[in-house]
Amino acid sequence: MKETIEKYLKEVEAFSAGNLEQLEQFRIKFLSKKGLIPALFSEFKNVPPEDRKELGQLINSLKQAVQEKIVALKTEIEQKSETTSTDLDLTMPVTDNLGTRHPLSLVRNEIIDIFSRIGFSVSEGPEIEDDFHNFSALNFPEEHPARDMQDTFFIEKDPDILLRTHTSSVQVRVMENTQPPIRTLSPGRVFRNEAISARAHCIFHQVEGLYVDTHVSFADLKQTLYFFAREMFGQNTKTRFRPSYFPFTEPSAEMDISCNICGGKGCNICKYTGWVEILGCGMVDPNVLEACDIDSEKYTGFAFGMGIERIAMLKYRVNDLRLYFENDIRFLKQFRSAY
Ligand code: PHE
Repeated sequence: MKETIEKYLKEVEAFSAGNLEQLEQFRIKFLSKKGLIPALFSEFKNVPPEDRKELGQLINSLKQAVQEKIVALKTEIEQKSETTSTDLDLTMPVTDNLGTRHPLSLVRNEIIDIFSRIGFSVSEGPEIEDDFHNFSALNFPEEHPARDMQDTFFIEKDPDILLRTHTSSVQVRVMENTQPPIRTLSPGRVFRNEAISARAHCIFHQVEGLYVDTHVSFADLKQTLYFFAREMFGQNTKTRFRPSYFPFTEPSAEMDISCNICGGKGCNICKYTGWVEILGCGMVDPNVLEACDIDSEKYTGFAFGMGIERIAMLKYRVNDLRLYFENDIRFLKQFRSAY
């Protein structure tokens, strides 16, 4: 009996299994009810008492060896099948899966880049604002319709806390904390209570600009924005200013550029006028400077604000605003760029 057990022990030691099926056969052979080890135990009953100790220990160590072998081989087989059953090839070069910047980020970066070349810095502020920074300091009369629930998402009433409707609020914060000269851009997300359609969204992005110093004139405003338009849309771009109204600027204007899609000949983007509006602007109202503790006798300034979606729409000819927010990979993939 001793020789048989030792023979089994060698067999167990040498055994290896390529798959779970073979391993199961091995288990049945040794451990099942009719297997070799139960057979040894029943034979053990006939062993003379003086040999019992030695043989008993031998059978037990055989049983243990079989059990350990099964556990070890099982883990080995499972690990092997995990790595071979997927088609992952980590050495494969990346081809079509490079990420891309979002078109709105591309356009925002380009706007910042253009203005930073003429000395503008970037300032950021909170998306949740109070009435003072979003409206009052900007010379919005108490009963102005833009404060109405229709346009503004209010978070709390009395005192009013709201989602900023423009990034002019950031410029109020800059003016409160810095004395001129100020030359800053505030890019950011803004919120207005509008029904979502191809042409309007309740979230969009702006870049607003502010320049305050001694002797800043409307001519400076025009020249700065003319420079921007040509850098952004090409050197042949023409600009025109139309009178407009904003509570925080006086005089106020809107700037159009010659339609970059039809080159000014007339198309459905420019509604056959040859011009498209890209931004609002004007000379900072003295009331705004005073609200921020800036001496309006000494300093003047200009401000402008544009929607990034609108600039991106003209640049990339995207005619539905909703595409910018849906994160459809087929849309985003088209904006490969080093920017
Ligand atoms: N804040 C204005 C808006 O959101 C844009 C603007 C900024 C207009 C500065 C004039 C001057 O519509």
